[in-house]
Amino acid sequence: MSDTEQTLANLLKEDRRFEPPAELAANANVTAEAYDAAAADPEAFWAAQAERLSWSQPWEQVLDWSEPPFAKWFVGGKLNAAYNCVDRHVEAGRGDKVALHWVGEPEGDARDLTYAELQAEVAKAANALIDLGVRTGDRVAIYMPMIPEAIVAMLACARLGAPHTVVFGGFSADALASRIVDCGAKVVITADGGYRRGAASALKPAVDDARGKAAEHGHTVDKVLVVRRTGQEVAFDEGTDVWWHDVVDGASSEHTPEAFDAEHPLYVMYTSGTTGKPKGILHTTGGYLTGAAYTHHAVFDLKPETDVYWCTADIGWVTGHSYIVYGPLANGVTQVLYEGTPDHPEPGRWWKIISDYKVSLFYTAPTAIRSFMKQGREVPDRHDLSSLRILGSVGEPINPEAYVWYRHVIGGDRTPVVDTWWQTETGAMMISPLPGVTAGKPGSAMTPLPGITAEVVDEDGNPVPNGSGGYLVVTEPWPSMLRTIYGDDKRFVDTYWSRFRKQGYYFAGDGAKKDDEGHIWVLGRVDDVMNVSGHRLSTTEIESALISHPKVAESAVVGATDPDTGQAVVAYVILRDEAGDGGPDIIKELSDHVRTQIGPIAKPRQIMIVPELPKTRSGKIMRRLLRDVAEGRDVGDTQTLADASIMELISASKATTT
Ligand code: WTA
Repeated sequence: MSDTEQTLANLLKEDRRFEPPAELAANANVTAEAYDAAAADPEAFWAAQAERLSWSQPWEQVLDWSEPPFAKWFVGGKLNAAYNCVDRHVEAGRGDKVALHWVGEPEGDARDLTYAELQAEVAKAANALIDLGVRTGDRVAIYMPMIPEAIVAMLACARLGAPHTVVFGGFSADALASRIVDCGAKVVITADGGYRRGAASALKPAVDDARGKAAEHGHTVDKVLVVRRTGQEVAFDEGTDVWWHDVVDGASSEHTPEAFDAEHPLYVMYTSGTTGKPKGILHTTGGYLTGAAYTHHAVFDLKPETDVYWCTADIGWVTGHSYIVYGPLANGVTQVLYEGTPDHPEPGRWWKIISDYKVSLFYTAPTAIRSFMKQGREVPDRHDLSSLRILGSVGEPINPEAYVWYRHVIGGDRTPVVDTWWQTETGAMMISPLPGVTAGKPGSAMTPLPGITAEVVDEDGNPVPNGSGGYLVVTEPWPSMLRTIYGDDKRFVDTYWSRFRKQGYYFAGDGAKKDDEGHIWVLGRVDDVMNVSGHRLSTTEIESALISHPKVAESAVVGATDPDTGQAVVAYVILRDEAGDGGPDIIKELSDHVRTQIGPIAKPRQIMIVPELPKTRSGKIMRRLLRDVAEGRDVGDTQTLADASIMELISASKATTT
């Protein structure tokens, strides 16, 4: 039995079931009938979901799928995303409702923003961006900490129809530069820094650096708009840099939003693929907002009048886009936005926030749950978590023990856990329990949401029988699907639509299994993408980073199973002859190099200097064998290796590991 098969066998022995609480089921936003209704007439179903939004002009056609895989949803319809997220709530008399309970990392540094205040801020920022030369269609990069201005910046761009690309603050200047260049961002919005782990962590210097690097590639950033958050010293280029407080605070709070076509680009979010170059996933306006709003309403059973919602993701990831900004705000919810690390200044910070703000809906990642499990239940037990009603999980498979702990310790055994499977590309949740309908199984994402048609198929694209595994696909288009890879239609078609071209299925890149009742268990990537703490990393991207170091001749990177982070990066490196043994600090040097090239999240857990890499006769690196070594297993079948003795050499090299 392979490792994956073993894990699966264990998972499928899992027979605990958690029925929806009776009261929740009785008052659920979405009931079991929705599955049938959506299946009977998907376009009518999605049209009804799109009615959650305010449209300036109604659509003529729900879906145009005449040129697959290039979809158009709500054809002819017009709307403004920012208007939908902010203004319409104010117009409906809910201006005094709190939109954001913002909590800074330093204790006591908190501020509430009502929808009316958010509207004023967004309008001011939009006016300021116009003054800085931003026009409809221009791209704007955002590189910010988790402060209200980050959301204001995103919505100001949306209001102007200027697609934003938010780059996670943990990415390096190089990574930021390549994204700026790829989408041709004209303006960058940033801050001097943000608070992480009790200290001010700088952001602006990376932007300065990235601007220089972009210039080397012939791309000019016109303006950099800087929020003063930490007050730390930053370099200021009078020709390019402008302070947010100078140009936004004094701007007019009157701005009439223009309605854009449903297919107008809303944003580009870069994510790792199987090649070295990150893919710019393009989402458009009407379908995306429909998907984000509908799923947030359905999966969290959102009652906007009474619920307080908190998603702990960073806005630099798609989860932050769909489930902090667009879904929740379109639904007019009150939510918490937290700037810092979960355990600062004390391990119970998150639980304190939940109890302070009476959070009822909570959305986080398995990796965070596992780290809290390690601390022990005494920490959350010190806080009153009785306001919680539904707990969500996203980003990676949640192991049954973490699921049960989450439900039991955090949710007091009252709260359903919704394990939501989706991707940057899908824009919104795809496979998830419905809290008022589904009897949850720990470790399973369960069922495609009403309106979504996912399947597990074999090599030939045929659905596998219950009890078997295969590839996860989506069989019909859905409103929030990616429209293309920015500037690269061919890569879009090749990556997602060529594997099952005959059937016209979207290939997600994940493996999955259907249990005996047909419920879906997502197992993880089947391609060269790793999932470290719920962050997607590409093996090839890290290999390219290593190879760009002057001492490195060749490298191979694998994702090894890790009890804390799900997977961890393990790198095998062959040094150049002239580099000798690389010197005493070679491991640190290489690790730092990856950090500067990509960012701290891509730093290998382990780097091994090896004399050779295992390759097939056709020269393909056999990562499977390297994974065996990294996970401490006996090396499997080496028959296809060009030189079978290589594995002995590599296993012997383990001594040089740090
Ligand atoms: C993985 C994050 C199992 C999966 C929203 C997917 C999951 C990738 C789950 C997308 C889940 C996400 N169970 N695996 N509930 N959610 N994944 O683009 O491998 O950052 O393909 O989007 O994360 O990661 P991305």
